[in-house]
Amino acid sequence: MKQGDLIAEIRELKKTRKAVVLAHSYQRPEIQDVADFVGDSLALARHAQETSCDVIAFCGVHFMAETACILNPTRTVVLPDTEASCSLEASCPPENLASFLEANKQKNYYVIAYINCSIGVKALADVIVTSGNAQRIVEAAPTDRPILFVPDANLGAWVAQKTGRKMELWNGACHVHRQFTRDKILEARDAHHGSLVVCHPECRDEVRALADHICSTEKMISFCRESEASTFIIVTESGILHRLRKLVPDKQFIGVGTEGCSCAECEFMKLNTLEKLRDCLRDLSPEVRLPEDLRLRAEAPLLRMLELSR
Ligand code: 13P
Ligand code: SF4
Repeated sequence: MKQGDLIAEIRELKKTRKAVVLAHSYQRPEIQDVADFVGDSLALARHAQETSCDVIAFCGVHFMAETACILNPTRTVVLPDTEASCSLEASCPPENLASFLEANKQKNYYVIAYINCSIGVKALADVIVTSGNAQRIVEAAPTDRPILFVPDANLGAWVAQKTGRKMELWNGACHVHRQFTRDKILEARDAHHGSLVVCHPECRDEVRALADHICSTEKMISFCRESEASTFIIVTESGILHRLRKLVPDKQFIGVGTEGCSCAECEFMKLNTLEKLRDCLRDLSPEVRLPEDLRLRAEAPLLRMLELSR
């Protein structure tokens, strides 16, 4: 089928299903273009909570669709591909966190969980953060309890530096962001004199040290738009380049490859295609379904996050 026909079919299905299509900035360009809303994890969570549509078709990875369902349980949440997982989420299985907390009960940790985690981990957390609000939320954490930050050690180290708060870090990482190297950034900077390096906080310390600005995918757009510079080296998953080029057309954006690959791609994010989006809208399947007791336990720290990041 031609792409134009597929897009027309998706548009029609959105109407008949009373559906909203939400997409993360790492989605394929054609999915971003057909979506009703494209954003970072924080903006997507807010949007999912507020939508009054009957159906949310979530184009991102599984934990993002799950988060939409936790926040808006009366809607039908479908996703194009259930195999769209996340290596960062996988680096903190809920049973491992539960046994760690049990073994260290006397410490009474205040658990801060990055949103890139499973519902089981969210249910064990006191509060959730995204890369867009982590600083503010860590600053608001109680000072009379030790903080445990899960699952991303890189984001955790960055927020600890920014806030001056001492935190114990879970040893998790994203397989895409951990592959950016200092040499790759230096190479790109040498080839594009005068450009600014903009980097996601999931990158390693040696990479973050070379950045002119570190922020979430959403904030990359406002930073580049408002900056006086005209060329930017973007150190995150390549999907954001489409959004940047579309929303800030007068500037130049250079993607950086990872070790052994000229383009940094999250293969989980790229599992979603227009065909699969059409199918999930048509069949209302695969659908995210959550046990209510677990959903309620995971909802509390998410609501705390939304309240603190108003
Ligand atoms: P953002 O919240 O910045 O969109 O990041 C999500 C993500 O998966 C980064 O790898
Ligand atoms: Fe997860 Fe990394 Fe993919 Fe983001 S880029 S969804 S953190 S695997």
